[in-house]
Amino acid sequence: MAKSSETYVCQSCGNITAKWAGRCEACGEWNTIEAQAAEAGPPGSLGGGAGKSKARKIEFTSLAGGGEAPPRIPSGNNEFDRACGGGLVPGSALLIGGDPGVGKSTLLLQIAAGLGRGNQSVAYISGEEAPAQIRMRAGRLKVQDTPVHLAAATNLRDILATLKTEKPDVVIIDSIQTLWSDAHPAAPGTVTQVRACAHELVRYAKKSGAVVLLVGHVTKDGHIAGPRVVEHLVDAVLYFEAEQGRDFRILRAVKNRFGAAHEIGVFEMTSKGLEEVANPSSLFLTDGGEAASGAAVFAGIEGTRPVLVEIQALVSPSSLAAPRRSVVGWDSARLSMLLAVLDTRAGLDFGRHDVFLNIAGGLRIQEPAADLAAAAALCSSLFDAPLPAQCVVFGETALSGSVRPVNQSDARLKEAQKLGFTSAVAPAGVASADLKIREASTLADLAAWVRTAD
Ligand code: TYD
Ligand code: MG
Repeated sequence: MAKSSETYVCQSCGNITAKWAGRCEACGEWNTIEAQAAEAGPPGSLGGGAGKSKARKIEFTSLAGGGEAPPRIPSGNNEFDRACGGGLVPGSALLIGGDPGVGKSTLLLQIAAGLGRGNQSVAYISGEEAPAQIRMRAGRLKVQDTPVHLAAATNLRDILATLKTEKPDVVIIDSIQTLWSDAHPAAPGTVTQVRACAHELVRYAKKSGAVVLLVGHVTKDGHIAGPRVVEHLVDAVLYFEAEQGRDFRILRAVKNRFGAAHEIGVFEMTSKGLEEVANPSSLFLTDGGEAASGAAVFAGIEGTRPVLVEIQALVSPSSLAAPRRSVVGWDSARLSMLLAVLDTRAGLDFGRHDVFLNIAGGLRIQEPAADLAAAAALCSSLFDAPLPAQCVVFGETALSGSVRPVNQSDARLKEAQKLGFTSAVAPAGVASADLKIREASTLADLAAWVRTAD
């Protein structure tokens, strides 16, 4: 048996190895492995009653009963509640991740104030800022008069002891990376510490019925710093995202045990803090004006909410052997596929053009339903033929060049109508009483229509 008292832990994924290496063999990250004193010795055999502590019998129960939805605590902030699946669930733990400076502390202070106003007792524990700093921010947000219990602390033992006596309904920890548990020798911010602290806090949430909101910083490559392990421990993971140079922020649920994942909440950062954006389509559409070629409005669904967003394409002749393809906000592999299908099935000539595709407003689209709108924008730019104004597009395309139906057509059309759109290009079979529908059953159909744009 090895005598070494050190093990090596990857700070990105938590993988433990006996030897140091430059690259973690579990997650493939470079320079993330650090030495760490071995954790308490092996537990020995658990079977046969060899251990010192006596095992307790666990009680089984049936699946029946408890069918009603969990109760929810509304924060009073509609966009935040929406992203959480309709409010906070007592006894749950949430992780809110985001780049430094994106506005996590601002958002959570506003949420704390909203909960306080709703007669919930809220503890806001910061390991990053002094109470004076937080008070200043509260003053700027005009929430200084709400009943929020503020503290600056980083020692997990102190925090848990305090929570057990104070019994708040909601606990906010800003941030999980600043906490340390004296039961572990590792330094604060290391994966061992973060995992241990998150684990204790999640346990506290389950036992006490309090809601625990953990703030986590994200590394450059988009992962919650160090511990992706925390993502597995908590009930919901929300990312707070910003597009560079833009004032709006998107709170995106990537995991939610109590609601729909991929739900989004949209905010705008103003001098008075984060304001809710109730109608996000307004952000992702450029102002009416004259119709330009290369733009198509996609009627999409983000989470459970329809959102209209403009897809912009620029296609220009290329002298390069391998023409450029550049895409922002959409999957580049999907773009390559779509271009190949357009060339092969609709007889177009994107192979000799540079292609740039951009989703307006910095939204990232993941739905396959955006294929047809992207194709419409690409064809419009290639032919230099603007699409008709007030027209939305949606539909998924297959490698054969045919256009497939997508889900929630009615919700998409309804949103379009609400925002003053009058016609839609959609897969065959879509009908609407309010909008003029132009059916496109193949990409060749679409291309022919865009060329003549009636
Ligand atoms: P902050 O919540 O401290 O970010 P995080 O906790 O994610 O690191 O937000 C900091 C930024 O928000 C900072 O650049 C200033 C800006 N801000 C405003 O624009 N308006 C405001 O009212 C507040 C409080 C912050
Ligand atoms: Mg902060």
